[in-house]
Amino acid sequence: MEDARRNLELKAIDPDPEATLARALAAGARDHGMLRQRDTYFAVPRGRLKLREEEPGGATLIAYARPDAAAERVSDYRLVPVPDAGALRAALAETCGVRVEVRKRRRLLLWETVRIHLDDVEGLGGFLELEAVAGPGPDLEHERAQIARLRAALQIGDDALRAGSYADAVAAGRPDPELLELARAAARNAYAPYSAFPVGAAVRTADGRRYAGANVENAAYPQGQCAEASALGAMVAGGGGTVAEVVVAAPSRELCTPCGGCRQRLREFTAPDAPVHLADYERVRATTTLAELLPLSFGPDHLAA
Ligand code: THU
Repeated sequence: MEDARRNLELKAIDPDPEATLARALAAGARDHGMLRQRDTYFAVPRGRLKLREEEPGGATLIAYARPDAAAERVSDYRLVPVPDAGALRAALAETCGVRVEVRKRRRLLLWETVRIHLDDVEGLGGFLELEAVAGPGPDLEHERAQIARLRAALQIGDDALRAGSYADAVAAGRPDPELLELARAAARNAYAPYSAFPVGAAVRTADGRRYAGANVENAAYPQGQCAEASALGAMVAGGGGTVAEVVVAAPSRELCTPCGGCRQRLREFTAPDAPVHLADYERVRATTTLAELLPLSFGPDHLAA
């Protein structure tokens, strides 16, 4: 297919990037300097689609598919140069939605036809990647041999290998930035004159929509409503769906966790392993899951006999 390319790739954690750099140079790799990269991953139904903005350099749309495997893996991809990154980002964000953003500093080295990446990934730390750019032939024997030689030279042991992608790791550990902002904005608008305890909550659906809500108190105290209930109500009004991620934000001294009733409300719509981030206005203080918050729970599946 036109312009389709293929790599043989490997990723490993790298606790000592300076030692790796020295080993790579000793093995004959050439240093191509430091790059700053921002990758925006869009929510697409198949494979992965990211906009890479690179400094120095330009912007590229990268479409690819590859399995999550710890050993070396084949990646099929396409690179499309992008003259107007801002416009493309807006077009794709508005239609597909943004899944996650990954920022990193990358030292690029080249050894034969293998790219060596010494990556410092924001929020994740140091990683090492090898990408053997495949030649025209159908088999990858030459590329496998190249990766094996470099693994030995750089002393990459089996236990350092990592199967997942940076995007998945970032997505697993940190909230969607827009969702976090929505929850904080909702908390700032909360109506909590009686408790003086404002809370905002935001949910992201599996198909990429986001809804927020705030707590709404009442002079008849029991009529007050929690932020999570408000956010879920907004979601239902917006078309419903499955909740893939939750943020609860409150500028409180103690960690604000969803109350018992709201755990059950979330249970109705949320996957058990979906992340629930508990934040204040400065930071995310804890990340948990619904299954952890509400073990042995009762849900819609129990009624579907
Ligand atoms: N509240 C929430 O909105 N969500 C939570 O997760 C915990 C508590 C609200 C309810 C009430 O308006 C105020 O915080 C104090 O309990």
